[in-house]
Amino acid sequence: MKAISIGLLGLGTVGSGVVKIIENHQDKLIHQIGCPVVVKKILVQDLHKARPAEVDTGLLTSNADDILHNADIDVVIEVMGGVSETKEYLLSALRQGKHVVTANKDLMALHGSELLRVASENGCDLFYEASVAGGIPILRGLVDGLASDRITQMMGIVNGTTNYILTKMSQDGLAYEEVLKEAQELGFAEADPTSDVEGLDAARKMTILATLGFSMHIDLDDVKVSGISTITEEDLKYGKQLGYTMKLIGFAHREGEKVEVSVQPTFLSDNHPLASVQNEYNAVYVYGEAVGETMFYGPGAGSLPTATAVVSDLVGVIKNLRLGVNGRSAVTPQFQKQLKDDSE
Ligand code: NDP
Ligand code: HSE
Repeated sequence: MKAISIGLLGLGTVGSGVVKIIENHQDKLIHQIGCPVVVKKILVQDLHKARPAEVDTGLLTSNADDILHNADIDVVIEVMGGVSETKEYLLSALRQGKHVVTANKDLMALHGSELLRVASENGCDLFYEASVAGGIPILRGLVDGLASDRITQMMGIVNGTTNYILTKMSQDGLAYEEVLKEAQELGFAEADPTSDVEGLDAARKMTILATLGFSMHIDLDDVKVSGISTITEEDLKYGKQLGYTMKLIGFAHREGEKVEVSVQPTFLSDNHPLASVQNEYNAVYVYGEAVGETMFYGPGAGSLPTATAVVSDLVGVIKNLRLGVNGRSAVTPQFQKQLKDDSE
C-alpha cells in the first residue's frame, strides 16, 4: 500500500514529538491504517538550529511552498503556532485538497469556522484534538463520546503552564518568575507566555470546548478572562493555611440559549478533586443532562503527550482517506450545521 506523505509545519516542542511518534510507533500506525507514514518535508524558521537525533535534517526547509505546493504531500500537520500567516498556509493547503491536522488553539478559536468551512468545501479533513488539553482526547470525548447527551456545564484546568506555576509556587514556595522560566524551558508555555499567564490561552480553549460541547458558536470576545500574573506566593500561602488551593479555572455554563464562559484564578477547597491536579496536568469536568458528571484528566502540555493527540488525529484523517469519507462529528461543527440546514 502506498505510503501517506506528511508535510510538517514546525519542529519545536510538539513537532519534534510528532516526528518521534511517527518513527517510534510506525508498527502501530501501519496496524491501524495499513500503510506507512512518511514525513516528506518540515518547515522551520532557522535551518541551522540543533535538532533531535530522530530528525533527518535533509527534510528541513524554510520555504512553506515546498510543502503547500508539493503535490506529493497528502496531509499537512501544523505545529508552528501563530495566527495570520498560519491561517493563510492552512487555507492554501485545504484549497489544494490537502488534509490538515493542527494543535493551534489561537487559530481555531479565532478562525475555526472559516477554516472548517473551507475544509468542507474542498472535501478535506481539519482535525484539532491537540488544541485543547494536550494529550487528553477531550474533543472526541465531548462530541463523539457524549454525542447523545445535552451538555450543560464544563469546568476545569485547561492551561498546563499556569497550573505548573501555581503548583510550584504553592508547594515549593518558588517565585513566579522562576517557575515561569522553568515552564518555558520544559516547553509548556506559548512562544509568548503572556497568553498563558493572562488566561487568554485558557479562554481560547474554553471557547473551543463550549462551541463543540454546546453545539453553538461562542465568541472569544464574550469570554470573561483574568490570569495569574498578579498572584503572589503570600496569596497562595494564606489560602493554604485556610485549606484552599488556587487554580486557574475555566468555566462554561449553558442555560437554554444563554451561555456564560469565563477563566479566572479561583480558590478551591483542598479536598476538591481539581485541587489535586498538579504541574502541567489538566482536568475538565463535563456535566451532561443524561450522563451526569464525567471527568477528563491527563497531561495538558508537553512534547509527546501533545504529539500523541496530533498523530491520533492523523490516524483519523488517514482512515477517512482510505474509506473515501470526510469529517468526524467531534471536529466538524460545520458538518453539524449542514445537517441542521438540510433538515429545515
Ligand atoms: P515551538 O515554539 O516549540 O515550535 C514552533 C516551531 O515552528 C519551530 O520549529 C519554529 O521554527 C517553527 N516556526 C514558527 N514560526 C514559523 C514561521 N513563521 N515559519 C516557519 N517556521 C516557523 O512551539 P510548540 O511546539 O510549543 O507549539 C506549536 C503549536 O502547538 C502552537 O500552536 C501551540 O499553541 C500548540 N500547542 C503546544 C503545546 C505544548 O505543550 N508546547 C501543547 C498543545 C498545543 P524553529 O525551530 O526554526 O524556531
Ligand atoms: N501553553 C499551553 C499550556 C500549551 O500551557 O497549556 C498546551 O496547550
